[in-house]
Amino acid sequence: MSRICLCLTGRTLTQDLEILDKNRKYVDIAELRVDCLDPDEHFQIRRFPEQAGIPVILTIRRDMDGGFYHSGEGSRITLFSKALAFAEADRRKNFAFVDMEEDLNVPSLEEAARTFGTRIIRSCHNREGIGDDLVKKLKSLRHVGDEIPKIALTPRSMADVVQVYRAAGEAMDFDKILLCMGHYGINTRILAEQMGSYLSYTSATDEPEIPQAAPGHISPRNLAEVYRFREITPKTRIFGITGYPLKATSSPVFFNKVFTEEHIDAVYVPFPSDSPEAFLELAAELKLAGASVTVPYKERIISHLTAMANEVKALGACNTIIPYTSGWIGYNTDAGGFSDSLLQFIDRKNLRGCRITIIGAGGAARAVASEVYRLRGKALILNRTTVRAKELALPYHFSWGCTDNQGAVMMEKFSDIIIQTTPVGMEGDIDGDPMPEFKFYGREKVMDLIYKPERTPFLKRAMAAGCSVLNGYDMFLSQARYQYRYFMGREFPSQLISRIQF
Ligand code: ATR
Repeated sequence: MSRICLCLTGRTLTQDLEILDKNRKYVDIAELRVDCLDPDEHFQIRRFPEQAGIPVILTIRRDMDGGFYHSGEGSRITLFSKALAFAEADRRKNFAFVDMEEDLNVPSLEEAARTFGTRIIRSCHNREGIGDDLVKKLKSLRHVGDEIPKIALTPRSMADVVQVYRAAGEAMDFDKILLCMGHYGINTRILAEQMGSYLSYTSATDEPEIPQAAPGHISPRNLAEVYRFREITPKTRIFGITGYPLKATSSPVFFNKVFTEEHIDAVYVPFPSDSPEAFLELAAELKLAGASVTVPYKERIISHLTAMANEVKALGACNTIIPYTSGWIGYNTDAGGFSDSLLQFIDRKNLRGCRITIIGAGGAARAVASEVYRLRGKALILNRTTVRAKELALPYHFSWGCTDNQGAVMMEKFSDIIIQTTPVGMEGDIDGDPMPEFKFYGREKVMDLIYKPERTPFLKRAMAAGCSVLNGYDMFLSQARYQYRYFMGREFPSQLISRIQF
């Protein structure tokens, strides 16, 4: 079973122990990052394993490997010797592991470690992609049988991540640590058990003053509670979400809470990908049981489906895929989620007599436009690229224009309801306003499909003018409930919704 390791990167040992205590119930192993400590603390590190009370990895990471130690190799080796010296017969008082980089060849240190039961992690850090044949590399890192080879690499793309999973599958017969750092690699940290990785590193990401030990770390609490890391087994069904950059999604929290509440042996994992094709390769490799597809792949994914529901054909956008014969079947739950949420907001059963502006003409706007048409509303579609607005508007006999001054004038006649569908104003772009030229009167009902942040600058302007506003959270919940139906093959248990609000 894979273990959760907390990397301790405080400036003092006292601080490290405090952080460990706060996270103790989620953590199996601690890694003492000696390179992060103030030099005065170096004299005390020998006693740390006893104080920690759980197995501890001794690591002194050089800056060239992504660490903070820059006092030279001689002094680093001296530090290693001090930490491994005076070994106690009671092994719990010694470091349980020592991380030695592949080029650190000091036989006396290795001997000291082996004599007193300190297991050697033989590590290699590659910040420029995959490099060598990974399986061969893992095997060659081990000098003797019980050493744990570790490769931590920074993938350049999702295609690299796919190769890492394949290599992991071919190296299941010995202990190893294999992981991808950075944004693309987050799923390798959650699925360490599937990869046969001995442990998964985490950082106390909720401590603002503590440096994160490596890019892409999540907190031990998140790993243990949200992703239920300790319950993941090779039999656990894997679901996930792909998109890019995939920074503002609540789907993992939602689905993992549902799985927890319902005692379903499944995990829902983020798979940020630079291409839908590479994601599908990984999905096949991991035998995903279903996935959500989000910005900007809702259209591009369609050409890879072996079958699709009518709404996907009609909308030209797909946000849910399920394995089907030798490929994938696609559905769209945005449309139903959107109209449930809008009709509740305006407290009506249809849009007859309503004049509506839709901002944006991408995948999300397609679902919105088709629902507005179905519900008998009349709309104006405004988009940065006017030709896309026109293409979307024509089949529904809607008006179209550009998100500029002229568009703002056109909006005046379509302002009973305004629906913002672009990613402008999303987390990471919190100053963005897709339609700065339009001045709200205060009588418009305004819906923004974004829910992170809770209020985009566009919604804030609308509120300041006195408009009633709604963000995309209700739509998110509603479409996720429809997705659940496809993932699980049964209705979403509605009594659950009050227990999983977040
Ligand atoms: P999705 O399929 O998830 O809707 P998409 O197809 O990439 O994603 O569409 C995103 C929408 O947001 C489009 O209407 C896009 O405008 P363009 O058609 O001109 O690309 C719009 N959009 C994205 N970024 C934008 C920005 N910075 N300013 C204005 N509009 C933007």
